[in-house]
Amino acid sequence: MQIGVLLSGKGSNLQAIIDAVKDGSLPVKIALVLSDRPDAFGLKRAEKAGVKARYIPPGPYRTILSREAEKEYVKALKKAGVELVCLAGFMRVIKEGLLSAFPGRILNLHPSLLPSFPGLEAWKQAFDYGVRFTGCTVHFVEKGVDTGPIISQAVVPILPDDTPETLLNRIHQKEHLIYPLAIKLVAEGRIKIIGRRVIIKEKGERP
Ligand code: GRF
Repeated sequence: MQIGVLLSGKGSNLQAIIDAVKDGSLPVKIALVLSDRPDAFGLKRAEKAGVKARYIPPGPYRTILSREAEKEYVKALKKAGVELVCLAGFMRVIKEGLLSAFPGRILNLHPSLLPSFPGLEAWKQAFDYGVRFTGCTVHFVEKGVDTGPIISQAVVPILPDDTPETLLNRIHQKEHLIYPLAIKLVAEGRIKIIGRRVIIKEKGERP
């Protein structure tokens, strides 16, 4: 399966995907990396790994792609043969243009145990709320923000001497494990969605 990765920032999750592809544990090809920021470090990581990567200007809005930009993203992804789009720190809400071009084929990674703490700086929201456990979630993207059927989650305890930064570091470590694994499940066709629930089939089990 050919995947595309969309990012806006440092791209440590892209790196985890690149590493998993390299060591053979993730059977996909990263066909294209796209960024809405020209200075995203993730673009450098892609370049270093020999993965095709591009900055595509997002248009004038802060939280979404403009219609025209959205078309450019879709065009580039389709041209590269992308079958599954993986958001990895892409800081824009995905709208109809991308959703309809890749129906049920867009994944997102979120730094909390959804449905708790959707939105921005979710680890800080959890920290400030005082929950004892938070974590990270991989889910399918649908119209709502940080909604969509959940593929996998990992739990991270909040420790007495944590700061938001130390907590985020430990969440990242878990993200780097669960995102490649979730992508693998999708790539191997092992996911069945019943209502909101994602059922993971055994290898070789019929649809
Ligand atoms: C991750 O924490 C992810 O949960 C969120 O954005 C962050 C991206 O980090 N959606 P990185 O750019 O992959 O290091």
